[in-house]
Amino acid sequence: MLSNIDLNYLRSVQNLSLKHLGLTKENPSVACLIVDFKNDTQGKVISYGLTSMGGRPHAEVNALKKISNKQDVKYLTAYISLEPCFKKKLDSCSSLLFKYGIKRVVMDSLDPNPIIYNQGYLFLKEKKIKVFLSQSLSKFYEFNKYFYVNQNKSRPFITLKLAISKNGYTKDYNSKDITSKDTQKYLHYLRLRHEAISVGYNTFIEDNPKLTCRLQGIDKNLRKIILCKNDFMKTQSSKKFEFINYKELWKLNIQSLLVEGGLSTFMTFLKAGFYDEIVIIRSNYNVVSSKDKYKIKNRLFDNLMKYSDNNYGNDKIIVYKNK
Ligand SMILES: NC(=O)c1ccc[n+]([C@@H]2O[C@H](COP(=O)([O-])OP(=O)(O)OC[C@H]3O[C@@H](n4cnc5c(N)ncnc54)[C@H](OP(=O)(O)O)[C@@H]3O)[C@@H](O)[C@H]2O)c1
Repeated sequence: MLSNIDLNYLRSVQNLSLKHLGLTKENPSVACLIVDFKNDTQGKVISYGLTSMGGRPHAEVNALKKISNKQDVKYLTAYISLEPCFKKKLDSCSSLLFKYGIKRVVMDSLDPNPIIYNQGYLFLKEKKIKVFLSQSLSKFYEFNKYFYVNQNKSRPFITLKLAISKNGYTKDYNSKDITSKDTQKYLHYLRLRHEAISVGYNTFIEDNPKLTCRLQGIDKNLRKIILCKNDFMKTQSSKKFEFINYKELWKLNIQSLLVEGGLSTFMTFLKAGFYDEIVIIRSNYNVVSSKDKYKIKNRLFDNLMKYSDNNYGNDKIIVYKNK
């Protein structure tokens, strides 16, 4: 049985796992806490680990290596946001937990990867380790939605982002940004969460965008993809950008892709149903200098599944999910 103390520690590992979200390449971002219950019924955290930037070593390895060899392991519980990995003949996080003598493991979610699914769990049980699974809290799914789409659909997780003025325009000839300064941070946070970013080639030519993640203290190297036709591609050479026809996107080994516009690129993906989430940033002012081709159709989003709708400074951020 899981106690309230266990559930609180699970919440902590979930929150901790957010720290490296979007930075772990093809691996999910996992956290592990090692808690000692020897002298304290509330437990005392003696070590923690996160999936390393780039994906390896895994969270459990990073947590276990910090335990002193003088530690009485009998009273330790490992809280992990995902089932530990398991490979029959090779070292794995499951075998490492066993080797360290951990007697109790509490995990939030089984691994969706069919090669791993349930195997770590069963291995630990076989080794007489007390194992508990709590799908009840499963925020892990929402946090690691990119990973689940990769595993289950063999394609990148696709987020479409579009900024729209109050009167429906996606471009303003009088100003570079349609939305207010408030949402700029949010947009860079969205970039942080994705492995690659792309824009249509008109945006590339007209806006000369940097497509970088500019958040203080964060050094994130996004793959920068310009979506274009083959004839345009042939005229370009750049070390910073990749020029790709959208039909080629699936061939690139990308975990998550943020498509940042403009409107015709957005519409290509929307009409084809190639998206998992749509993030609309709706500003609170009317654009006066634009063209009709940059205006969205009335009721464009009416049939989409709205997931959230929040005020963000002067703007609104509306998220839709694919059905
Ligand atoms: N509001 C926003 O969030 C936002 C974001 C970015 C840019 N913008 C603004 O939007 C303006 C540009 O928008 P736009 O609609 O004219 O152009 P765009 O979407 O940047 O680029 C569109 C061009 O890319 C090609 N294209 C689109 N999807 C493609 C795909 N999947 N594969 C290959 N090629 C594809 C199309 O070629 P064909 O037409 O030849 O088929 C189209 O001409 C910029 O000036 C910028 O200021 C706004």
